[in-house]
Amino acid sequence: MKIIVANLKMNFNLEENIIYKNNIEKFIKEKDNVIICPSFPFLSFYNNGNYSLGAQNVSEYEKGSFTGEVSARDLASLDVEYCLVGHYDRRNNFEENDKIIISKINNIVDNNMNAILCIGETKEEKSCKKTLTILQKQIIEIFNRISPEKYKNIIIAYEPIWAIGSGEVCEINKLKEIITFIKNFMVKSYKVNSIVLYGGSVTEFNVLDLNDINNLDGYLVSTSAINIKNFEAIISNCRS
Ligand code: 13P
Repeated sequence: MKIIVANLKMNFNLEENIIYKNNIEKFIKEKDNVIICPSFPFLSFYNNGNYSLGAQNVSEYEKGSFTGEVSARDLASLDVEYCLVGHYDRRNNFEENDKIIISKINNIVDNNMNAILCIGETKEEKSCKKTLTILQKQIIEIFNRISPEKYKNIIIAYEPIWAIGSGEVCEINKLKEIITFIKNFMVKSYKVNSIVLYGGSVTEFNVLDLNDINNLDGYLVSTSAINIKNFEAIISNCRS
């Protein structure tokens, strides 16, 4: 069963979260392997369904006078098990750089949670056939500066920037090659069998083909996860 991570981004207020939660809870079964990532104020609201809880962000700082920040310690105390880091939305809009990403990963893993590290190339890099070089560089910059005992708590999400919210999904054969490359690189360089997800315009339709990629462990979904019917169809199409 593939892992399905729903990144709800900054889309639902309280009323909308109530409707969403009521619907998905009727549908999701424990064996579905779903991780819901609501925005911070609604984390505790989601903490008792047949799914795991993920956060969309965390502070790079541990604790103290950081007004407005949310620590990994805070998240862990709300039964959060996963936290996104290095998402393009944050790299692009909030200048989340490698140093910040590394601090966040350390805080997440030190608090017994798992980091979901997003990596991906731009459209230009793709057209110059630089995808694998870019992904390798992004991985090295993080993993070379993290202690090896933390590697197993880092999930890699391959999210090509050009595919996020664009309706353009990565071509199946290309994705197979990329997932195999990432997995092999992680074993060769860091001696870890990493979990690798794909994100970027996943829908209830293209997931049927994506499911054929055997070594792909799951999906990071936003647009199609926000729509209740589409999200239920994705989950249903991932059931074997
Ligand atoms: P879409 O599913 O909307 O392409 O977004 C992907 C994403 O950013 C998930 O984190």
